[in-house]
Amino acid sequence: MSEQELREKLIILARENSDVLGSRQIVPGKDYIPPSGKVVGAREFEYLMQASVDMWLTAGRFSDEFEKRFPEIWGLKHGLLVNSGSSANLTALAALTSSKLGDRALKPGDEVITPACGFPTTIGPAVQYGLKPVFVDVDLETQNATVEMIERAITPKTKLVMMAHALGNPFRADKVSELCKSKGIWFVEDCCDALGAEIGGKHVGVFGDFATCSFYPAHHITMGEGGAVLTNNYQLNKLAMSFRDWGRDCYCPPGVSDSCGARYCWKLGDLPKGYDHKYIYSHIGYNLKVTDFQASLGLAQLERLNGFISKRRENHAYLEKCLKELGLDEELVLPKATAGTAPSWFGFFITLKQPGRRLEVVQKLEKSLVGTRLLFAGNLTKQPAFRGVDYSIPEVLTNTDKIMNDGFWVGIWPGLSTYHLDYIATQIFSAVR
Ligand SMILES: Cc1ncc(COP(=O)(O)O)c(C=O)c1O
Repeated sequence: MSEQELREKLIILARENSDVLGSRQIVPGKDYIPPSGKVVGAREFEYLMQASVDMWLTAGRFSDEFEKRFPEIWGLKHGLLVNSGSSANLTALAALTSSKLGDRALKPGDEVITPACGFPTTIGPAVQYGLKPVFVDVDLETQNATVEMIERAITPKTKLVMMAHALGNPFRADKVSELCKSKGIWFVEDCCDALGAEIGGKHVGVFGDFATCSFYPAHHITMGEGGAVLTNNYQLNKLAMSFRDWGRDCYCPPGVSDSCGARYCWKLGDLPKGYDHKYIYSHIGYNLKVTDFQASLGLAQLERLNGFISKRRENHAYLEKCLKELGLDEELVLPKATAGTAPSWFGFFITLKQPGRRLEVVQKLEKSLVGTRLLFAGNLTKQPAFRGVDYSIPEVLTNTDKIMNDGFWVGIWPGLSTYHLDYIATQIFSAVR
């Protein structure tokens, strides 16, 4: 058999056996219903096999294609793949510290406004770079900070607003963007949980200087591990690429040389003139790139993105209807889409109105095989990791604490159907009543 024939045979074999390899039925009451999960099929197996037989190993044709197609979905010009959503946040933050930004470069001691209720790696990179978090509260129904909360927290030291669209429900990034622009403040939208969400018909992420995204299996599409940093700004994209790729000045993709056409003509730092541009470093960087295996999976998932988003919306609406029909809105604060936005839900968030019952309710649900999750870190300032960190809390974090103490979420991911959601609703009813 020729190499080409063998390749084709392996790819066909992977595609045709995807049902055997990839499917798993979840039977309510018998199997655990995870709060999040991946949906994969023939295309994912096919592309992964193609990436395997390519044996390219690092970023390659699949990552190139993904980096081309992905920002187009958002209406943005540039998108860089990285190895996680956390790395995307790190890359975006690091790029904003570049001395190439002159006076606007972020420096230790600068203040960054962020909600206290969220995921640690939205704000972790800022702490690592010596910025001071200023934690604001969130709204109880949307789990998002409002523009008014952010505006009240601004001081002359505020240089960045970096915040996530909570569980796929957008905060008003359009208004936050206007505010930041008027004050010369950088704005990073963490869209890790919100791929496909919109504000006034525009994709979240287009309002900030950077948008970040995660492809961990819990998220809207997956690469296993993976993430992306997106921007419309050519200079910011180049800076992000530098930090992602070892800090180098050169921007050639793997396997390519002389993209700048001046590989041996540069004179930078104290290096001799003509030092190979491939080995000139303008930043203290990282290596946060993906492999082509990850990108191949992501590319297959991209083909299903619209279907995934619709299914998440449909499931969210259905579960809300079930809980209301059971009269549970008496006992529960149900999630509400932020006015003027179209969420792309990550999970179904519930806050128990009566304090002190969360542990009992969550344990009952888990026992009846309904998976639950908390809103990540709850109140970040209460986490052991934040002990000793220099931060400030300008206003009391009432709703954040309520969410930390009495909130949890259940799944509405595309692998679930009304069959699962009916069961989840009745189990919530038994656990709460
Ligand atoms: C809002 C938010 N930001 C960042 C991340 C980090 O993404 P990753 O797990 O890909 O590092 C997550 C993870 O779920 C998240 O929810």
